[in-house]
Amino acid sequence: MPADLVGPKTPLELYRIAKKTGMWDPESIPVAEDLSDWQRLNADQREQLLRICALFYEGEVSVADTLAWWLIAMPEADRRVFLATQIFEEVKHADFFAHYFRHVLGDVDTRSYLNPLYRAVLVDGLRAHGEDIGRAILAANGSGPHADGGKSGAPSPISNHDLDRALGIIEGTLAASGYDYFEEMLGTRGIFQRLLEGIRLVRADEGRHIVHGMDYLRRKLTAHPEYKELVAELFYEESMKSNARAEYIFERNGFGLDRERMIALSMEHLAQRSHEIGLT
Ligand SMILES: [Fe+2]
Ligand SMILES: [Fe+2]
Repeated sequence: MPADLVGPKTPLELYRIAKKTGMWDPESIPVAEDLSDWQRLNADQREQLLRICALFYEGEVSVADTLAWWLIAMPEADRRVFLATQIFEEVKHADFFAHYFRHVLGDVDTRSYLNPLYRAVLVDGLRAHGEDIGRAILAANGSGPHADGGKSGAPSPISNHDLDRALGIIEGTLAASGYDYFEEMLGTRGIFQRLLEGIRLVRADEGRHIVHGMDYLRRKLTAHPEYKELVAELFYEESMKSNARAEYIFERNGFGLDRERMIALSMEHLAQRSHEIGLT
């Protein structure tokens, strides 16, 4: 975890950190310097790297689109302020991967890399959550989802919604595992330095998103312990899908990653998130 995120942080503190450290420009990273590394990869290595980059790009686009719904429905003004930086950052992350495809990996149909297991969680699931929130907003009283700025503490249309836990799984476990893959494939070999530079900046931004998301979820579960069982079930179901998801990444294991080790790291992320929200 970056040093600036150690200890509890309020949404406004996270917003201030985002203003200072989140304003990097993907297009200023000279990614074309990685071309010689890309040209040296064999077919299986290329396929493995393409799968992970395509999944990241699709996930970033999808999260950015869905977060807009969450911001609109969020009853707490400070969290809306922070979420504005998060949406910007997710767009910026998609921008980074698009920039990387354009200059290094080539013209790739990233959608074709979404196998059913990833499409379900990254695209279809998030879209359904967003649409649910939209319907909840429309069904709320005519004064809108947070007409009092969240001051009354009254339940909002999203108080029992599960978008937060879905985002927690995507950002806190799937993406976190993705960074481990990049480090293991590329960092340990000292190759693709510009890709890693961008990934490390993305990861620093995501650290704030996770701190905020886990704090929101922990507070929600403290106020509504009746939701704990549902969240625990979801986390358990996700742990059961880890093997099948990893299978897709290991289908053509050009980089010779250690399957058991990578799955263990992914389980560690899930356990850490469970702890942060007070499940364990
Ligand atoms: Fe992101
Ligand atoms: Fe994020």
